[in-house]
Amino acid sequence: MDLYEYQARDLFEKYEVPVLPGIVADTPEEVRAAAEKLGGVVVVKAQVKTGGRGKAGGVKVAKTPDEAYEAAKAILGLDIKGHVVKRVMVAGGARIDKEFYFSVLLDRSNRSYLSLSSVEGGMEIEELAVERPEALARIEVNPLTGIDKTKAVEIARAAKFPEELVEKVSDVFVKLYNVYTGEGATLVEVNPLILDADGNIIALDGKVTLDDNASEVRHPEHELLEDKDAADPLEAKAKAAGLNYVKLDGQVGIIGNGAGLVMSTLDVVAYAGENHGGVKPANFLDIGGGASATVMAAGLDVILGDAQVKSVFVNVFGGITSCVAVADGIVKALEILGDAATKPLVVRLDGNQVDEGRAILAAAGHPLVTLAAGMDEGADKAAELANA
Ligand SMILES: Nc1ncnc2c1ncn2[C@@H]1O[C@H](COP(=O)(O)OP(=O)(O)O)[C@@H](O)[C@H]1O
Ligand SMILES: [Mg+2]
Repeated sequence: MDLYEYQARDLFEKYEVPVLPGIVADTPEEVRAAAEKLGGVVVVKAQVKTGGRGKAGGVKVAKTPDEAYEAAKAILGLDIKGHVVKRVMVAGGARIDKEFYFSVLLDRSNRSYLSLSSVEGGMEIEELAVERPEALARIEVNPLTGIDKTKAVEIARAAKFPEELVEKVSDVFVKLYNVYTGEGATLVEVNPLILDADGNIIALDGKVTLDDNASEVRHPEHELLEDKDAADPLEAKAKAAGLNYVKLDGQVGIIGNGAGLVMSTLDVVAYAGENHGGVKPANFLDIGGGASATVMAAGLDVILGDAQVKSVFVNVFGGITSCVAVADGIVKALEILGDAATKPLVVRLDGNQVDEGRAILAAAGHPLVTLAAGMDEGADKAAELANA
């Protein structure tokens, strides 16, 4: 989960990373009040989960509460790279002397952590990495030892921080690393990390990505950071039911067991769709190993709730769970759903006890269910039904 800047700021504060005061506000009136409360120069900042807010007009300096009010009027409602601004943060205004860059992230390809740092912060780091790669110090961080003071000094020197700043910035690097491990993040990025006119190092903008797997187990409190309004309602419903569901843009609902099989099913359905008016898969849904009636019913319920869905393809390979259990699950799920089940279902079963499983579905003879012998045939039938 990506966090908003104000949420990152709060986490930074918890780990004693130097930040400026910040107050979130949803209306120009609230922004004026926040500016009055903070006093002095403030910066009104769009809270959207994308970078480049500054360039897009989403970061404005205001010298008075009235100016802050006007800035908020200009920023709220602004569309920044497809993200509409609904909330801003009113931050204390910094007198910037220099802008730096620092990040620590999960480096999957090297099974390690990586820190990136530069004394040329402010601009988008992707551009810097391409245009002046030598200005970006890439230092591997051993996850077992992390960024302690010695490592932090190494990073600061590699990025060519002026010697008189090494002590101060390295302290901040250690604290940012504490955010990274303490919160179970896969990314902590500060751009810019600044030196202000009084010689303080301050994190002026923060981007944090939390590892959802870590959040589930170790940080139940992270649930509060979730942006429930922005989530797709079907995805929210699926999540509440404990389902692994991702909404896509097509017409053929997909249910399968095992992420690999579901991914292949998406491909096969997209391919089959080319012969049937270009229909596409409507979702990813992995019901996992169990495939019980309740899970199947919950999955179907979510998929049938998608108005774009015209047909459903259930593609299950019986492994430890036999096809008998899956077939029973489908029959019971249709019973549970009753009149709510309104769209044709193509079912392909294979693997453990396939014949018995098919026999159960055939005997039930549900008018909406069509049995398919194989995956390609099932995908083709489901695509045809979706296009009918
Ligand atoms: N609190 C602040 N005080 C002064 N200047 C700021 C403040 N916050 C941001 N800025 C300036 O605005 C620029 C862009 O803001 P930033 O928070 O980095 O947003 P983004 O990265 O989305 O463009 C910064 O590089 C900095 O120069
Ligand atoms: Mg920034």
